[in-house]
Amino acid sequence: MTKPSANLFWHEAEVTKTSRQEQKGHRSTVIWFTGLSGAGKSTIANAVEQRLAQEQKHTYLLDGDNIRLGLNKGLGFSEQDRKENIRRIGEVSKLFVDAGVIVATAFISPFREDRDSVRALLGKNEFIEVYVRCSIEECEQRDPKGLYKKARAGEIPEFTGISSPYEEPNQPELVLDSDKESVDVLVEKVIAYLKANQII
Ligand code: PPS
Repeated sequence: MTKPSANLFWHEAEVTKTSRQEQKGHRSTVIWFTGLSGAGKSTIANAVEQRLAQEQKHTYLLDGDNIRLGLNKGLGFSEQDRKENIRRIGEVSKLFVDAGVIVATAFISPFREDRDSVRALLGKNEFIEVYVRCSIEECEQRDPKGLYKKARAGEIPEFTGISSPYEEPNQPELVLDSDKESVDVLVEKVIAYLKANQII
């Protein structure tokens, strides 16, 4: 049987990524926040995006629940579905980078291999892995959506950190300890990284 991709050809656009970046006045990249549910990924990603917008940078935020309500509707939380979730988000992120945008993503993305696959899709300095580190005890204490309570009661199967694994990054570009430092301090660490690496 012919492979579905057998007769497909990649088309290069006349307007390049570099020219789009030049137009915007900054490089494009993915700031990939990973961590447990309740660790603060969305809060920090939101605050980073706000901070970048204040500096007139062109940004976009891809957030776990929102993507699962739209593009990835129908995917659950089995290992296979989480892999497909991250694979698609990786491809979407790559399109944003090609468009010259700084994209912040907030997904648990529990598997190292899947995060590494997204990294492999992108170029140098185009994938900044940010581990939002927070103990499971603290996440469970916060429980902003009441999900840990439900998971403990056996109402949510395969819940990350309880009945499904989370693999910490081995060599993330940044580690943000969200149970030790304030959101403002952590946002500035991300901004400092972007500046130090001439992304903005
Ligand atoms: S993943 O693992 O990267 O595919 O997950 P993600 O797309 O980031 O979605 C995580 C959000 O889904 C809600 N939720 C669950 N999380 C973990 N495990 C299970 N079983 C689960 N069921 C629903 C939860 O609101 C997560 O959001 P955050 O913001 O991480 O708390």
